[in-house]
Amino acid sequence: MILAGLKRLEYRGYDSAGITVVADGQLAGQKKAGKLANLTAALEQEPLPESHQGIGHTRWATHGGPTDANAHPHWSMDNRVAIVHNGIIENFAQLRSELMADGVVFRSQTDSETVAHLLRRALDQTNDLAEAMRQVCQRLEGAFTLVAVDATQPDRVVAARRSSPLVVGVGEGENFLASDVASFIEYTRQAIELGQDQIVDITPTTVNVTTFDGAVAEVRPYEIEWDLTAAEKGGYDWFMRKEIFEQPQAAADTLLGRVDTSGRLHLDEMRIDPALLRSIDKIVVVACGTAYHAGLVAKYAIEHWTRIPCEVELASEFRYRDPIITRTTLVVGISQSGETMDTLMAIRHAREQHAAVISICNTNGATIPRESDAVIYTHAGPEIGVASTKCFTAQIIACYLLGLYLAQEQGMKFGDEIVTLVRELTAIPDKMADLLERLEPVEALAEELLSAESVIFLGRHVGYPIALEGALKLKEISYLHAEGFAAGELKHGPIALIEPGLPVFVVVPPPGRDSLHDKVISNIQEVRARGAQTIVLAESGDAAARAQADHFFGLPAGPTLFQPLLAIIPLQFFACEIATRKGYDVDQPRNLAKSVTVE
Ligand code: F6R
Repeated sequence: MILAGLKRLEYRGYDSAGITVVADGQLAGQKKAGKLANLTAALEQEPLPESHQGIGHTRWATHGGPTDANAHPHWSMDNRVAIVHNGIIENFAQLRSELMADGVVFRSQTDSETVAHLLRRALDQTNDLAEAMRQVCQRLEGAFTLVAVDATQPDRVVAARRSSPLVVGVGEGENFLASDVASFIEYTRQAIELGQDQIVDITPTTVNVTTFDGAVAEVRPYEIEWDLTAAEKGGYDWFMRKEIFEQPQAAADTLLGRVDTSGRLHLDEMRIDPALLRSIDKIVVVACGTAYHAGLVAKYAIEHWTRIPCEVELASEFRYRDPIITRTTLVVGISQSGETMDTLMAIRHAREQHAAVISICNTNGATIPRESDAVIYTHAGPEIGVASTKCFTAQIIACYLLGLYLAQEQGMKFGDEIVTLVRELTAIPDKMADLLERLEPVEALAEELLSAESVIFLGRHVGYPIALEGALKLKEISYLHAEGFAAGELKHGPIALIEPGLPVFVVVPPPGRDSLHDKVISNIQEVRARGAQTIVLAESGDAAARAQADHFFGLPAGPTLFQPLLAIIPLQFFACEIATRKGYDVDQPRNLAKSVTVE
């Protein structure tokens, strides 16, 4: 059961795994570096005794390499206590020296092992696992989820949570703890969201939640909306491919229920005082990776519609540069997982400066939405592939809804203008579906470019972040060198990279009244003149773009601001095709974790 649960968390990325169970008052376990298959094989050779109480973990190495010894669970010296840990214990060096001075011998190089020894010492004082956990947590600095068993306390598992994810699954005669509901969805859809600095103590029939101070905590039970099939491949070979094809549904679900029949937008989750929303005079978007690219796209639309200045910043950089935030700044944190530590720390910093914080998130009850003043959920369903696809387009849609809502509330757009824009947005799922049926040429292209060593992506305006995202997708799953540039910036340096045969993808905006389209056509000519092989994504009827293309991919027609929602799809698919042809595991690319819960 624990192995199956770990299997469902595999997508989060890891490099070692382990299990400990309690049987007949003793600990028994196994841990192995590498994939779960190694652990499974070891368990087949040496099966564990029958047990009804155990913990398991997949580890993504931070302190100490991915070895058997560094894998979790970690045990106390007398083999009485076992723990697993997510996060980083920032004061572990000091704790470790203190324990070593006391005669403790460490079996690993991890920060986590300190907790096993501290817990064992605390049990000498109290003999109650929850109380011991409470005492230990008072001494820890950093972010952590801890889960512990004590061989002398049958049918009991105790966990603690600060900043890292932890949910409780409430079953019948059985209870579960996990960092993601996916691992217990097979057994129950009843879950309890834990708050910050809480301890949970479970037995087969009880769940007790208290604070780090020992007070009884209020908890929020909820029902998980999706079922097991959503977390399975459903006939596809890879989750990533499945999720690329789920984009029309994800987009439609994200729009669902947010527009009334008169075209007026309602964001029911918007718990921010309308008067405050009307006074917002600056927007700062903080996010990482793909979510950051979604923010970069959204900036163009938000500023255009609201006339409110909008900055987009990498969450990991944000709080370290003393950003200018006031009570009338709106900070928007975008995060698929809702657990990315860099983004969490950025929104915490924003709230300390009294800014209003809205998060855009795909995971119900995750830490980032919990710590925001309001949340707009992207209803994309679980995203299992490490490379984000359907959540990227859903995040852009959620940002657009926010932009239009602000424009509506601040009176920057007339009602009929909003209706027209919302109509364009609601047409997107069908246009995505149309495009997804025409991806065969991209397969042929991937075959042709299989031996490419480097790929360049170009775009202007909203096409620029699409170039960045196209390059990121290719880098992370095919391990190819890929770079995205603003097409107009090329002549200021990167054009030196262009050489005969180099594949250059170009996103061309729709022909329109401004000269944007023609400028991009000139940029294609510049790279073509130097021998590049051009792969052009433009509206199907765009003859000028087609004339400059060695390969042409036609996009459905529509306004420039909505084009990213379509243009990214062939680029995601291309990355997936190249990587799978090279034989790589696209769902779990090397070195990457789905939820990056460390800074
Ligand atoms: C790339 C990717 C990452 C995430 C980033 C933020 O495909 O998935 O770049 O976008 O780690 O993750 P979330 O959105 O969970 O905060």
